[in-house]
Amino acid sequence: VVVLFVGDLVGEEATLLLAKRLPALRAAHRIDIVIVNAENCAPSGTGMTVGLLDLLFDRGVDVVTGGNHSWDGPSAHAALSGSHVLRPLNVAPTIAGKGALTLETSGQMLTVINLADPAALSLSQVARHDVLPPYACWLEVKRCSTTIVDYHGDHVIHKQVFARAVDGEASAVLGTHTHEPTLPLYILPGGTALVTDVGMTGPAGGVQGFSYESLVAGLRSVGDCFALPLRPPVSGPISLGAVLLRIHDGLTRVVERFDWDGPIPGHRVACGKVTPVPESVGFPA
Ligand SMILES: [Fe+2]
Ligand SMILES: [Fe+2]
Repeated sequence: VVVLFVGDLVGEEATLLLAKRLPALRAAHRIDIVIVNAENCAPSGTGMTVGLLDLLFDRGVDVVTGGNHSWDGPSAHAALSGSHVLRPLNVAPTIAGKGALTLETSGQMLTVINLADPAALSLSQVARHDVLPPYACWLEVKRCSTTIVDYHGDHVIHKQVFARAVDGEASAVLGTHTHEPTLPLYILPGGTALVTDVGMTGPAGGVQGFSYESLVAGLRSVGDCFALPLRPPVSGPISLGAVLLRIHDGLTRVVERFDWDGPIPGHRVACGKVTPVPESVGFPA
C-alpha cells in the first residue's frame, strides 16, 4: 500500500492549493491513501472548518489528523464529528472527537492513530487532568497490522522512543506539530518508519506559517511569544511537507520525502539502507 502523509496544513491558501494539486499527485504516484494533519487549515490558522475539510475529502484526502489545535474555533465540534477526522487519542473519552480509525483501502485494512505529547497538548483547550499517557493509549487501542501513527509532539525524543517501543508493530511513526521538517528518515530494524517531523504544508516567510509580528511583540514586551493573539497565516510560496511510504505486510519498505514535484531526490530510505544525504540538504521554500 502506498501512503502519502502530509504534515501540518496551515491556512486556507495552502488548503486550496493542496486540494487543487492532490488528484494529479495521487494518480501520478499511484497513492492508495492520503492522510493530512489539518489542525491549522482554517483561515485563521488555528482549527479546522467543515467546508475546508469537505473540500479535502472531495479531492482525495482519506483521513484528517490533528493536534493541540483540533478543538480551536467555532467549527471544531462539527469538524470533529466527521467520520474520517481524528484528534489526539490520548485524552479523556469525554473530550470531543476520536483518536483512531480503521478503514479499507485497495482491499487492505489500515489503521490511523493520532497521538500527542503532553507538551503539545498543554497548548490546547484540553485540561491537564484530561491528558492521558500516549503509550498506554496505544496499548489499548484496536488496530490492524498496517498502522500509521501521527505523533503530534514538541519533543523529538518522545517520538524517537515511542517509535522504538512500537518497532515492528506500527508501520510508521510520523511526527507533526513543530512545522519544521527533520532531515533523517529511518526504517527501524523491525520495519517501522520514523520521521520525527514531516514539516508543514503552508506559506513560507513567517514563523511556522504565521505572521511573526505578534509573536515577536509578545516576546519583547512580556517575554512570552504567546502573550498576544496569534495573527493569521502569511501569504507566501507554499511548501508541501510530506512523506511517501511503501508498506508491505504491515512494514515499511520505502520512505521518501515528497514535495509538489513528487519524491525529493536523495531523501529516500529503503529497508534500512540509508541513501547518502546530498551535500545540499535544504528543503524547498
Ligand atoms: Fe500545527
Ligand atoms: Fe500542533
